[in-house]
Amino acid sequence: MTDDTAADRLTELAKRRGFFFRSSEAYGGVSGFYVYGPEGATLKENLEDAWRDRFVRREGHMEIEAPNVMPEPVFEASGHLDGFDDMIVECPECGASHRADHIVEDNTDIEEAESIAITDIEEIVAENDVVCPSCGTELAGEPVEDFNLMFETTIGPGSSSPGYLRPETAQGIFVEFPRLKEYARGQLPFGVAQIGAAYRNEISPRKGLVRLREFAQAELEHFVDPETDDPDLESVADVEVTLYSEAQQDDEDGEPVELTVQEAVEAGVVGSDWVAYYLGVAQGWYERIGVDMDRFRFRQHRSGELAHYAADCWDAEADTSAPGADPDWIEITGFAYRGDYDLTKHGEYADDDFTIFKQYDDPITVERATVDPEMSYLGPEFGGDAAAVGEALEDLAERDRTAFDDDTVTVDVDGDEYAVPVEKTGFSIEEVTEAGEHVTPHVVEPSFGVDRLVYTVLAHTLERDDAGEDADEDRTVLTLPPELAPTTVAVFPLMDKDGLGERAGEVAERLRQAGFEVAEDASGSIGRRYRRQDEVGTPYCVTVDYDTLEDGTVTVRDRDTTAQARVPVDDLPGVVADLRAGETTIGDL
Ligand code: GLY
Repeated sequence: MTDDTAADRLTELAKRRGFFFRSSEAYGGVSGFYVYGPEGATLKENLEDAWRDRFVRREGHMEIEAPNVMPEPVFEASGHLDGFDDMIVECPECGASHRADHIVEDNTDIEEAESIAITDIEEIVAENDVVCPSCGTELAGEPVEDFNLMFETTIGPGSSSPGYLRPETAQGIFVEFPRLKEYARGQLPFGVAQIGAAYRNEISPRKGLVRLREFAQAELEHFVDPETDDPDLESVADVEVTLYSEAQQDDEDGEPVELTVQEAVEAGVVGSDWVAYYLGVAQGWYERIGVDMDRFRFRQHRSGELAHYAADCWDAEADTSAPGADPDWIEITGFAYRGDYDLTKHGEYADDDFTIFKQYDDPITVERATVDPEMSYLGPEFGGDAAAVGEALEDLAERDRTAFDDDTVTVDVDGDEYAVPVEKTGFSIEEVTEAGEHVTPHVVEPSFGVDRLVYTVLAHTLERDDAGEDADEDRTVLTLPPELAPTTVAVFPLMDKDGLGERAGEVAERLRQAGFEVAEDASGSIGRRYRRQDEVGTPYCVTVDYDTLEDGTVTVRDRDTTAQARVPVDDLPGVVADLRAGETTIGDL
């Protein structure tokens, strides 16, 4: 099976059964925007709940929900206004815009063209006779330019208050740090999570759910003191991970290696203990949600590939091609070490405190250099700049007290130098008692792309086998973990007569009241009804038959093995709960 047929089969199933489909098709459709149908919306919600369970609840973190639109100064501070760009090239003939690095990758052996400088990309386009993918016109000589990926809007009428749809949910957490730290009682480490939409105005989105203009992120920002806070590495020390480091990628013969988290840290393959910890935690979670770990790896970003805020980053990648076809690795999570980049930037640009005050065990006495400039001298001497000179003297005393060693000290105010006699600065060194210090936390960020996870889980669990009850016919089955399945249990009457339909309705209602997602189906043969549930991943089917009317039992059928067992209706809610939790199997029953 080729890549295309695997992807096409998934897209066909997704549309036919209501997992996902392109939006606004009544108006011709619009690239990069998808709708989750009834099955897909529940699957996505279940996946998000599984994430919340593992990365928020079990880790003891908080979750918030911030707005999607944020004002421009946020993104000046965050660096997105200046640096969140992709490379664009426009076809001179048909006017289509393309991502220059992608068309280079498609037309050469180059794999990570994103990290190549624009001028070099222009040369590569020319040297390789790269043509417009839409109309075939040569692109040699066409300018390649930066294109900012943020969607711009205006806040309120007029254009005086620009805003942007957030390109990552993370900023909604960083900007609120001054309040969030209070909820953490001012103590590091603490983590804040958010699940929500993010927006990127992709130049030429392709591959359906894999590259969207509006997409869902599940992000955790873990604020730590790099000097004193350590993760619970022991809890994941023995977890085996497949790692494809920058060095291995740079080596012609380099291959991913299998190491335990402990070995990866000891060998320095993963430089940050915090990142290593989250790789270990995430490994178990991917298994839990149905990612095929034989088609999975953690790949380190090469230095040219790092986002502007990241000091180091490992991506979790899944191969979503069909078995045997060329691999098609997609990023499903980024584990970035963002250092103090974000909080320092917001501290500089915003009018609030983005640090944590760390109390010492015992107060300490330190020498502090201070100034008390004579304004009666500075005023006449420097006129309107006198106050700024005073502030510059204060800054300089804090930074470099030796600058006051001579008779004159020189300060810089907006590029102009001002010489001040030291005797007029009121310079002195005082002893002060300090109770603690202000620390800018570092940020460790596991950032999950929810849509890509949904796509990967579907691609990895979509199977075709001949284990259906009708052995002549292949069945399509989604072997979703029960926790993720949109429907947990489907209830069928064997036939819709003799009271079986009513009894099936009662059984379904009882299961619904017990908290399960339940489907009912009375049409067609039982085999056909099983197959309808198999292809949307329903793990259990219950059939009400004539014995049910006699002895109050029903059959429960397992999706993956197709094995069946008879169970009293009264026990059914407990049995389904145990099956779903993996505490029993149909075989045990
Ligand atoms: N917050 C990381 C990202 O959006 O990729």
